[in-house]
Amino acid sequence: MIGRLNHVAIAVPDLEVAAAQYRETLGAMVGLPQDEPDHGVTVVFVDLPNTRIELLCPLGKGSPIQGFLDRTPAGGIHHICYEVEDILAARDRLRASGARVLGDGKPKIGAHGKPVLFLHPKDFTGTLLELEQT
Ligand code: CO
Repeated sequence: MIGRLNHVAIAVPDLEVAAAQYRETLGAMVGLPQDEPDHGVTVVFVDLPNTRIELLCPLGKGSPIQGFLDRTPAGGIHHICYEVEDILAARDRLRASGARVLGDGKPKIGAHGKPVLFLHPKDFTGTLLELEQT
């Protein structure tokens, strides 16, 4: 059901520092910061030949990544995103298998303009999973 790895998201305490490190130290193609108010994050995309890295920083109060950064102040891998062809079919199949879909279960439009859903990390070996319809 899942397809390609779309991105790995890393929560960071300082987006400018992290973006500069990817650009200058690691020599990657790094985009400009984008605010995603619906998701409570500001995102910088790092384009790699085979996937993307998303550097995430909290935007506003009550950001869903604030608790993560409180627990891991230096930052860390927050979630990984797999592509699916049909997000509603994927959601229904996962729910039927007992997996918890976060939020109200309705896909939101993600940072790439495509519908996304998140799956509970406790149901997937401690890793928050994002599904993106491609
Ligand atoms: Co993501």
